[in-house]
Amino acid sequence: MINKFISNILPYFPKQFVWQFSKKYVAGSTLADAMRISTELNAAGIIVTIDHLGEFVTDMEQVLVNKASYFEIIEHMDKHGINGNLSLKPTSFGLLIDEEQCYQIVREIVIQAKSYHNFVRIDMEDSACTGKEISLFKKLFKEFPDSVGLVIQAYMRRSMDDLIGLAKLHTPEHPINIRLCKGIYLEAEAHAYQGFEEVRSNFLMLLEFMLKKRFYVGIATHDRFLVEKAIEMLQMYETPHHLFEFQMLLGVTPILREEVVNQGYKMKVYVPYGQDWFGYCTRRLKENPTMTKEIIKAVFIRS
Ligand code: FDA
Repeated sequence: MINKFISNILPYFPKQFVWQFSKKYVAGSTLADAMRISTELNAAGIIVTIDHLGEFVTDMEQVLVNKASYFEIIEHMDKHGINGNLSLKPTSFGLLIDEEQCYQIVREIVIQAKSYHNFVRIDMEDSACTGKEISLFKKLFKEFPDSVGLVIQAYMRRSMDDLIGLAKLHTPEHPINIRLCKGIYLEAEAHAYQGFEEVRSNFLMLLEFMLKKRFYVGIATHDRFLVEKAIEMLQMYETPHHLFEFQMLLGVTPILREEVVNQGYKMKVYVPYGQDWFGYCTRRLKENPTMTKEIIKAVFIRS
């Protein structure tokens, strides 16, 4: 409750203040920062997925700027020899302005990524975008089956039906590539499970479905219970190592991350960067169980 209250009033705090406890969640404001953090993670045996922050854009001029940023990321990843791929939010490319134009622009990014042997993950945003983002993915998957992936959220009631629909496109030669996460946006009960245990149990059901079908799965969670259950399930279904990875967010549960890496599993870390860090970091702060303590500490230290 207190976390929720504080996160609601965060926009009224000076940005410089919020930055103090947000900075661990982002690589920095420039592409050079993203390259530096990615190089460090690669050196620790961790793969990355780089995201340029900025979402829900409202004008096509900004969309073109965002496209140029992604082209730049692709070139720089190649130049710096970064082991990783890209994540993008379709609303940064005008999904809610013009769906067809958004498709054309994301398609250009996928073509560019493919030409550098890179890969594009389409992040999943709120329920206004779910159907549109799945359609976008399906269209791209038909043309570039090895260069594009999607995210499915365990809190969404529709997710099992969505996976059943996606399974129709799946083949062993070109597995569907899904990141499975709990889901972060505020959703009405009609769309999303609200209970903590309900979301956990749906996460495991969706994971089991994908392991049985031999999808490629990115198991994206910092929930120790789910990580342990996922490992049990991977063993039970004898999932080959080339069909899964664990994924975590930059700055979140580094100890659990290291434990997973030390067990020999592939780990990918989400590395966001850019000037537009506020919305992303506010979502992270809401999930941080020690946020209240950290803010009180920050206020105390400043005064
Ligand atoms: P949960 O929130 O229960 O956290 C488990 C534990 O992790 C907590 O008890 C705490 O100890 C720790 N923890 C979690 N967050 C923390 C924080 N910010 N600071 C400190 N500790 C923290 N969502 C979405 O809707 N669309 C998307 O495309 C993506 N993409 C995505 C990529 C990757 C790689 C990850 C890991 C996650 C996402 N998410 C996402 C976010 C996801 O939906 C979810 O909100 C977060 O991962 C938190 O859920 P957990 O499963 O970690 O459980």
